[in-house]
Amino acid sequence: MLSIQQLLQQNADKFQYYTFFIILPATYFLLWFYNKNFLTTSTKKLPPSPPKLPILGNIHQITNLPHRGFWKLSKKHGPLMLLQLGCKPTLVVSSAEASKMILKTHDLSFSDRPSLTTFDRVFYGSKDVITIPYGTEWKNLKSIMIHKLMNGRRVRSLITSSVEDETALVMEKIKHCCLSSLPINLSEILMVLIQDIICKSAFGVKYTDSEKGRKFLKGISETLELLSKLVIGEFFPWLAWINKVNGCDSTLNRIVKERDEFLDDVINENLDKSGTMLTGETFIGTLLGLYNGETHASSITKDSIKAILLDVIAAGTLSSATTIEWGMTELIRHPDVMKKLQDEIRGIMNGRKCIIDSDLEKMQYLKVVIKEIFRHHPPVPLFPREAREDVNMMGYNIPARASIILLNTYAINHDPVAWDEPELFKPERFVNSSIDFKGFNFELIPFGSGRRVCPGLAFAAASIEHIIANLVYKFDWVLPDGAKPEELDMTEKQGIAVGRKSPLLVVAPKCYF
Ligand code: HEM
Ligand SMILES: *[C@@H]1O[C@H](CO)[C@@H](O)[C@H](O)[C@H]1NC(C)=O
Ligand SMILES: *[C@@H]1O[C@H](CO)[C@@H](O)[C@H](O)[C@H]1NC(C)=O
Repeated sequence: MLSIQQLLQQNADKFQYYTFFIILPATYFLLWFYNKNFLTTSTKKLPPSPPKLPILGNIHQITNLPHRGFWKLSKKHGPLMLLQLGCKPTLVVSSAEASKMILKTHDLSFSDRPSLTTFDRVFYGSKDVITIPYGTEWKNLKSIMIHKLMNGRRVRSLITSSVEDETALVMEKIKHCCLSSLPINLSEILMVLIQDIICKSAFGVKYTDSEKGRKFLKGISETLELLSKLVIGEFFPWLAWINKVNGCDSTLNRIVKERDEFLDDVINENLDKSGTMLTGETFIGTLLGLYNGETHASSITKDSIKAILLDVIAAGTLSSATTIEWGMTELIRHPDVMKKLQDEIRGIMNGRKCIIDSDLEKMQYLKVVIKEIFRHHPPVPLFPREAREDVNMMGYNIPARASIILLNTYAINHDPVAWDEPELFKPERFVNSSIDFKGFNFELIPFGSGRRVCPGLAFAAASIEHIIANLVYKFDWVLPDGAKPEELDMTEKQGIAVGRKSPLLVVAPKCYF
């Protein structure tokens, strides 16, 4: 008698034969058929899609740097491209013309964000400005953000208080490294600087100074990293268990709990100090000034206050630090641009130490350099919207709710139709050009545009301008160990804000103050 094992062994070839040539193709065909019908039954003409696998859809075509993966696909399939990412149809937008249709012509129809349970967990049930669905509550919170926290007068006072002071401290720190010929970890210094600026503006305290504060900041960075992993689980519900097994789920729960306790403490401390703090010198002071208790109809809730503070740190720190990091990277890689910028700034400053607003206004070359940094390295290369209703545009039907809309700023900023030699870092392209990044020129939208445009635009742009001007004015910059500028590693790191993969390590051989 043959044992089962022998039987199996004898028939192994046959089993493999059946599996590979009959069963798998049949399953694939059925799934493909199902997938295809799922997408086409309810719609008229959908935007083009690359061929997709069953269940996985197009996910296998996305690299670990999605903005690059999408960009490559869009070159073949067009500026409006419908991908199937797991269970979510996703419309990827990759040209100025298409982004204008989404962010201007049909802005109201596209002014939602995708609702994801991960966002709910991180942002107090999506009660923050970034993830809250379009509606009166969003309007109320966004108006608070624009008119109370980020109005023109406020931004100017934040620049003179937080930005100028903190930048001056960092310049002293760098001067010390310069005089003792120590290498400088610019990535680290910039991140801490931005965190200090934002926390001082939001809470009146620098959290990099205390153990508890550092833990809070680290929690937010970790949350941003987990976010991308957990969101994948929502695209593939049948894969969500992985996040339970690998610990992502429980890590997020722990961080969210710790962060909530921290913010509760901070709010209570500030409520105790009422009167002095509530004058609105800090964001938390302003927000608590609008808080009249949980039951008051016209009040904002404590959860909204916490969610807004969280937005400011999560949206404002990494994105701004990343911009300056790329900026310094490009300036070091392009010594001619660096030299021209230094000449301009040193000429205008004429030996004075403190760069102030009126000096910056005169720095025309600095302005075009910063535009080119935002073009070449948009810090948030992909941002999501969601359709609130069916929209017909560019000859296609975009079904409501059915799809996540991803704006690929990176692809838009590198579209050869809009830009001459888009792969080159060339600030001169903006000389004699009126194109700006404020959301009115759809070939350059690092901050988005329309109703959902970034409310931190003015503050972020002014801070970045100030910090880059100081770094460039006060020091010369080279790479350590005599490395050549063109040897600088330019690899990007995966994330919502895409920064450098390797830290920017530099030397300041000469100090000018
Ligand atoms: C270089 C720095 C920054 C970049 C590149 C950036 C980029 C963006 C982008 C692309 C969006 C989506 C816009 C859209 O959907 O049209 C956005 C939204 C947002 N940003 Fe920023 N941001 C930056 C700094 C900041 C800062 C400093 C803050 C706050 C202090 C902030 C707060 C927000 C908020 C609250 C939203 C959501 C607005 C809404 O949904 O209505 N951002 N940002
Ligand atoms: C530079 O700073 C980054 C970010 O804080 C850190 O991960 C890295 O290890 C540092 N590198 C060096 C060589 O100090
Ligand atoms: C900008 O315009 C001025 C005056 O028309 C001209 O002299 C200059 O060459 C132009 N610069 C660039 C970079 O196009």
